[in-house]
Amino acid sequence: MCGIVGIISTRPVSARLLEGLKRLEYRGYDSAGIAVFNGQGIKRCRAAGKIVNLQSALQESPIEGTCGIAHTRWATHGRPTRTNAHPHQTSQVAIVHNGIIENHKALREELIDQGHVFATQTDSEVIAHLIQHHLDKGLGETDAFQASIDKLEGAYAVAALIGTHSQTLYAARHGSPLVIGFGTDEMFVGSDAFALAPFTQKVLYLEEGDSAIVNIDNVTIKDKAGAPVTRDILTAKISAVMAEKGNYRHFMEKEIHEQPESLARTVAAYIDPDTHLPLLDDAGPLLQNADRLVAIACGTAFYAASVAKYWFEQYADIHVETDIASEFRYRHPALAKNGTALFISQSGETADTLAALRYCKRAGLGTIGIVNAPESSIARETNTNLHTLAGPEIGVASTKAFTAQLAVLALGAIGSAHLRKTISDDEAKAHIEALEHLPTLCKAALETEQQCASIAPTLAQASQTLFLGRGAYFPLALEGALKLKEVTYLHAEGYAAGELKHGPIALIEEGTPVVIIAPNDALIEKTISNVEEIAARGAHVIAITDKACASHFEGQARHTICLPDLPGLTGPIISAIPLQFLAYYTALKRGTNMDQPRNLAKSVTVE
Ligand code: F6R
Repeated sequence: MCGIVGIISTRPVSARLLEGLKRLEYRGYDSAGIAVFNGQGIKRCRAAGKIVNLQSALQESPIEGTCGIAHTRWATHGRPTRTNAHPHQTSQVAIVHNGIIENHKALREELIDQGHVFATQTDSEVIAHLIQHHLDKGLGETDAFQASIDKLEGAYAVAALIGTHSQTLYAARHGSPLVIGFGTDEMFVGSDAFALAPFTQKVLYLEEGDSAIVNIDNVTIKDKAGAPVTRDILTAKISAVMAEKGNYRHFMEKEIHEQPESLARTVAAYIDPDTHLPLLDDAGPLLQNADRLVAIACGTAFYAASVAKYWFEQYADIHVETDIASEFRYRHPALAKNGTALFISQSGETADTLAALRYCKRAGLGTIGIVNAPESSIARETNTNLHTLAGPEIGVASTKAFTAQLAVLALGAIGSAHLRKTISDDEAKAHIEALEHLPTLCKAALETEQQCASIAPTLAQASQTLFLGRGAYFPLALEGALKLKEVTYLHAEGYAAGELKHGPIALIEEGTPVVIIAPNDALIEKTISNVEEIAARGAHVIAITDKACASHFEGQARHTICLPDLPGLTGPIISAIPLQFLAYYTALKRGTNMDQPRNLAKSVTVE
């Protein structure tokens, strides 16, 4: 997390640094700051909280110059205060950092022994002092920067101002992304091309271990061995237009309503219009010939992977392991020799998912990305991609990206089943036809909005809510609970309905809200038995079901949210919509900021 921007120009840069930061606020919004060379040295301005606070601070005490760096923070070490905000500064150095410096304690102690005085509790401040230390020893700016970078362990993207009248930006990356942008008589550094999109589309992605000296009209790059290298300059296909809320109150609300279009776009991209069969391109052979699949992701994307396991196993008869990326990367997993790994990620920058991808590549697995940001690190490093076409997702809680992930995974499962001949042409076509109805089904599901809004006060005043489901609806229960937790700060748990009697049923008392996700499927009778058990114990049952099964919940559920009949694999995708509404309206009732919930960031670029 944390976002970095740097600009070196013939024109003043402060306003544009701020503009770049606003585009990076999805990476963190605990505090923000900028530093510029103003002719007399480095001047900085910082503020706790969101970027608007920095904007106000700059209005009160403007700083200006033609070379500067800026940062929006997601706190790892040290509280999110103004003191701990970046840039960190010494007499001749200012730095901004994204990542975690793992050896910061040892470095800090060494520097304190040599007389350095630290002002913050952050791991990042040590970088500024290290550079200062090397300057004090007589090294030139470039050598001082490189000598300091060489001492860092952990993950970092760093941009630095060094000296007193300098017109140079120093940058380095290891484990956290960094992009160099090329303008006319100006150059840029950014955490991603999206931050630089208003200024330039011409970008170069630094590779692992690269360090760069950026001057106003050129960049010099060295690789991790210290050898000069050139990197390709690309044209970023990222729009400079910032997503707007339009007539909606919040991005989350807008993005929930965008799902008919995002599903239509995504589904259309993977269906052959002539044959009505899935179109998987390079991913086809990787899914057809693999002995085993492993699907790796974090958070909501992991729940999409978990639904996919049911689909791939049932239809394509292929063993699927699912793993949370932060567990997978450290647990020495036994991997199939001829296996394929799927990486599901909205941002394409999630540090653990990216590390898991690199692990799988080293192990020789084929890799497929299911990513919403086509120019992200994961999308660039996988063998091939089945992109989700949800469009930019701004709300921190994933909504339209989740249903787009499910749609791609459903098409992947049916496509793979068809290629592996575990289903016939006709069966594949019937499934595809069902998936083609997703936009229409989604529109019908959006009509549950007012009913969900009317249930929200019950959830808002409850101390906990349980979510239950069976089969492919079990991961939906986990997702429903996660969505509620993250945007309302209320406690919620998701369970497999069949697990109730093994413990969680003890949580149920008179009035405990229990959301049960149970559209028609082979397990519906069993789920209904579970509902009877919890209703008998006083639970306030909220059933999310479909027309075919709604009558089964009469007398048991206090609310029945009735979706249209959901053919084939559409059930888990469409059932996500009332879960999203329940979370959104409960947050609205509680007055939380569901677009930027506390402690969270949209892109988790540190482990
Ligand atoms: C929850 C949510 C997160 C993300 C997770 C992975 O609503 O959005 O749980 O799903 O942080 O992020 P990506 O998909 O960007 O890898």
